[in-house]
Amino acid sequence: MFAGLKQTAVWRLVRGAKRAVLAPRHDTSLVVDDCRATLTAVDPPIALEAGRSHHWRIRFENLGGTAWASAGSHPVQVVARWLTYTGQPFGNEHAVPLPSPVFPGEPKTFDIAIPTPAFVGDFTLVLDLAQSLGGPHFSTCVPQSQPLRVAVPVQGRRATDIDYHEVYRNANLAQNHWWVVGAYQTKEQYEKSSRERLGMLVANGLTPDSRVLDIGCGTGQMADALQNYLSDRGTYYGTDIGEEAIAFCHETFRRRDFVFRRGEMTRVPFGPEDGAFDLAIFFSVFTHTFIDESALLLAEAKRLLAPTGQILADVIVSPLVERGAGNRGEMIVNREHFLRTADMLGLSAVVVGVWPWNPQAERLMFRFRRKE
Ligand SMILES: C[S@@+](CC[C@H](N)C(=O)[O-])C[C@H]1O[C@@H](n2cnc3c(N)ncnc32)[C@H](O)[C@@H]1O
Repeated sequence: MFAGLKQTAVWRLVRGAKRAVLAPRHDTSLVVDDCRATLTAVDPPIALEAGRSHHWRIRFENLGGTAWASAGSHPVQVVARWLTYTGQPFGNEHAVPLPSPVFPGEPKTFDIAIPTPAFVGDFTLVLDLAQSLGGPHFSTCVPQSQPLRVAVPVQGRRATDIDYHEVYRNANLAQNHWWVVGAYQTKEQYEKSSRERLGMLVANGLTPDSRVLDIGCGTGQMADALQNYLSDRGTYYGTDIGEEAIAFCHETFRRRDFVFRRGEMTRVPFGPEDGAFDLAIFFSVFTHTFIDESALLLAEAKRLLAPTGQILADVIVSPLVERGAGNRGEMIVNREHFLRTADMLGLSAVVVGVWPWNPQAERLMFRFRRKE
């Protein structure tokens, strides 16, 4: 034990002497050989929330012969930048001085706060070191000092996530059935949107004799619009995962040829006995389902479609997203990926409406038909 203590004391002396020799020179530029570094992410995040700072735990190893200063006129900076999934730079570089010096042969782990992109997407964080802001990166000076790269999906804010079962459980549909299904402040706004949507359906082939399938019918915005529009030959079938929503629609819309049935996340609860539909609609549904769920729901709609039938569906698209990203509060998809999926399902698509969404995304209304 005595020998062990002596060893520790000796080691401290050696380390002290080494630090005295290698003490960081706050006012001196490092030479190329001092820029040999290894950066490692400790417990990197699986996903991040858009627009928030995240404390990244990074292990820094100084493989050179001089200590890296953390203050003075030449502090070593951690330089962070983001790339899109296609490798394009996104936003500005962000530099943070090392919290304390890093000595050769004494790796240190620091928590470094780095702002996350404000938009949903599939990003890669690239971390490097530099001795001055805008100065050459260590990886540029020494090829061995590879920058650290971590691919991480950036998701929507947790506060905007939605669980529709919970939403309906807590809602008072008798009082404000329009509020739960969209950002409608008043019943008048909801009814105006309902009229506009009816106009869009008519522009896309709806006739009074159409057989309509409304997937994710909510509290019946389109049932309301269609109950006075469809003739006796037309029918309306609505389905939703919310049992309270379906109960509300049963109570509210009493036409005998209006059918409501609760569905499951990727299953539409109708079959060949229910006939084939001329028009299947998904309004504000794929904005709340994960991309693979949307694909399965599209396949379900196609299964129930008449040979000349059409599907209308709106999605939010962004070039920052590789396939699909976000949460049930706001799901965002890659347009080409979504179209490839539709193509694989045997559907051809055209865009019949475009609305701005945010500086990186837009909302599109697609019309699908069976491919010839
Ligand atoms: C934003 S609301 C839109 C409701 C309605 N389409 C409208 O525009 O008023 C989304 C609706 O989709 C329903 N929904 C979400 N995922 C679904 C799924 N996988 N299958 C059927 N309905 C779904 C929700 O319960 C909710 O009622």
